[in-house]
Amino acid sequence: MKVFITGSDRGQLHWELQRTCPQGIELQSPAPRLDITDRAKVRQTVQDLRPDVIINAAAYTNVDKAESDAEQAMAVNADAVEGLAQAAGEAGAHLVHVSTDFVFGASNGAPFDEQAPVAPVSVYGRTKLAGEQVLHRLMPDTSVCVRTAWVYSAHGNNFVKTMLRVMNATGKVGVIADQTGSPTWANALARALWRAATLRSTGTLHWTGAGVASWYDFAVAIHEEARLLGLIDREVAVTPLTTEQYPTPAARPHYSVLELTRTWQSLDYRAAHWREDLRCMLQELT
Ligand SMILES: NC(=O)c1ccc[n+]([C@@H]2O[C@H](COP(=O)([O-])OP(=O)(O)OC[C@H]3O[C@@H](n4cnc5c(N)ncnc54)[C@H](OP(=O)(O)O)[C@@H]3O)[C@@H](O)[C@H]2O)c1
Repeated sequence: MKVFITGSDRGQLHWELQRTCPQGIELQSPAPRLDITDRAKVRQTVQDLRPDVIINAAAYTNVDKAESDAEQAMAVNADAVEGLAQAAGEAGAHLVHVSTDFVFGASNGAPFDEQAPVAPVSVYGRTKLAGEQVLHRLMPDTSVCVRTAWVYSAHGNNFVKTMLRVMNATGKVGVIADQTGSPTWANALARALWRAATLRSTGTLHWTGAGVASWYDFAVAIHEEARLLGLIDREVAVTPLTTEQYPTPAARPHYSVLELTRTWQSLDYRAAHWREDLRCMLQELT
């Protein structure tokens, strides 16, 4: 099976997809990376590579910057998905796409299943939703959209690495305690995507680490686990904050936990608890 992965190895998920690639798969990831907003080049590249599956690991992921850069966010997260879907359709390739918990908004406190009503509260969320919709319209039977959340990896920029840096530098940090979600190790997400690619899954799937946490819970766990591994060598005061105390350009849902059981059944693959995955990721930094 030939698999074309979009994006570059600067991306967390792209990097983890490369290192978790199952045996027997021929990876295609051209360098320099293909700009997925360039439709003509996308079409030409897909025609040249003739992949069996395309995994779209490229996205505009800066949630706050997207508020003032909506055009570019829409170009990468939605318009480019249309171009990829057209190119994949012409080449007969299956498309595995990645979306976000931020397509959801207000919640009644229950995990969102795949069919739950969407209501994004940010530009980023709206652009990712537009990407999902174009994919379902153009490739209803030959694509899958995997929603994930709170992604981190030993490689790239993310909350875990920011926490380690701030905790080591200052010995104190304030973290939002009234937003709840599920931290997700990009390595585990990559393995789930490989299963979806191999099985040619369709529709919408949800994949995060198992269990739930606030950003504050996550930060406390990072501190505890990193202390045990010697990645932090001081006591750190971790203080819970409200969303109002830590304003950001983009609004974020207060609760964006995803229901996972249907995906576990369909991929025959279960997520580990997020804290177990966090420990594995931190071990890689030692
Ligand atoms: N990070 C999270 O917390 C999170 C949460 C929910 C969902 N997701 C979704 O998960 C997926 C993977 O995210 P990630 O964490 O791996 O993101 P990331 O680390 O920010 O990487 C983004 C990737 O997209 C590439 N990219 C950006 N613009 C591009 C363009 N025009 N053409 C080609 N490649 C382009 C980047 O390449 P360059 O660096 O070379 O530009 C990079 O490889 C995305 O679909 C994202 O929306 C992420």
